Amino acid sequence: MMLRTRYDVVLLLGAPGAGKGTQARVLATALDVPHVASGDLLREHRSRGTALGQAARAYMDRGDLVPDDLVVGIILDRLRQGDAHRGALLDGFPRTLAQAAVLDERLGEHNGAVRSAVYVEVSLRVLVERLSGRWLCRACHASYHEVFNPSAAGDRCAACGGDLYQRPDDKRNVVENRIHVYLRDTRPVIDHYGALGVLQRVDGDRGIEAVRADILAAAARPPLLYQPTLSTAAVVRG
Ligand code: AP5
Ligand code: MG
Ligand code: ZN
Repeated sequence: MMLRTRYDVVLLLGAPGAGKGTQARVLATALDVPHVASGDLLREHRSRGTALGQAARAYMDRGDLVPDDLVVGIILDRLRQGDAHRGALLDGFPRTLAQAAVLDERLGEHNGAVRSAVYVEVSLRVLVERLSGRWLCRACHASYHEVFNPSAAGDRCAACGGDLYQRPDDKRNVVENRIHVYLRDTRPVIDHYGALGVLQRVDGDRGIEAVRADILAAAARPPLLYQPTLSTAAVVRG
């Protein structure tokens, strides 16, 4: 039984390749909210060939951030959809202090807040290795790794049977810029949520299952008033 009355979001923060997408589906299911990933939404715009997708293309291919106003628009539109009426799990947003300010303000207007910001901490040296072996599902965005997390369905997605592909921005030189941009623009966002008292650090330098257990526990820990769902509590007690 869901007893939540506020509009709360949970954030999944971390460097490119930290494991946000890998962990998001289970966490979103446990929280009973949709997984909203700014990168996935931008890639969908690109594959549909929208004006927004075309505007975002050059930034993404260089590993730079897409301008704040474009990304904020996409995320706020997504949060207005019916399935997000009780909250959402945000992955890849906010990425700048300006984005965080808009999010905090908008949530405040709706009697909501960032309930928990789960920071998946990974040493920078593992990121290139993770991203260079990554394969993603074109249909459902599930994330695999050819060594660390191969799909049980071979070259198809184990979750939905979709096509797997490699992201063009996972090439080494682009990854290096993404990490540089992360350190410059996104680390301050992590400090911001730390100062607000909602940051939950998780050691992401371990196996996928161990990281998952800690993320579920961290998201269920109440920094603010919060009723965990039955499913979260069950998984955490596991
Ligand atoms: P986005 O799609 O958000 O990319 P990112 O933040 O760089 O993060 P990734 O998706 O690369 O990493 P992840 O943490 O999800 O890793 P994953 O779980 O897949 O953004 C792309 C671009 O869009 C940006 O560069 C920017 O241009 C634009 N953009 C997006 N949001 C924006 C915003 N808010 N503002 C402005 N621009 C924005 O895992 C990686 C690999 O590691 C996988 O192969 C996985 O199998 C493996 N793995 C995961 N966990 C483990 C583990 N514990 N052990 C071993 N391997 C693991
Ligand atoms: Mg991702
Ligand atoms: Zn799939």
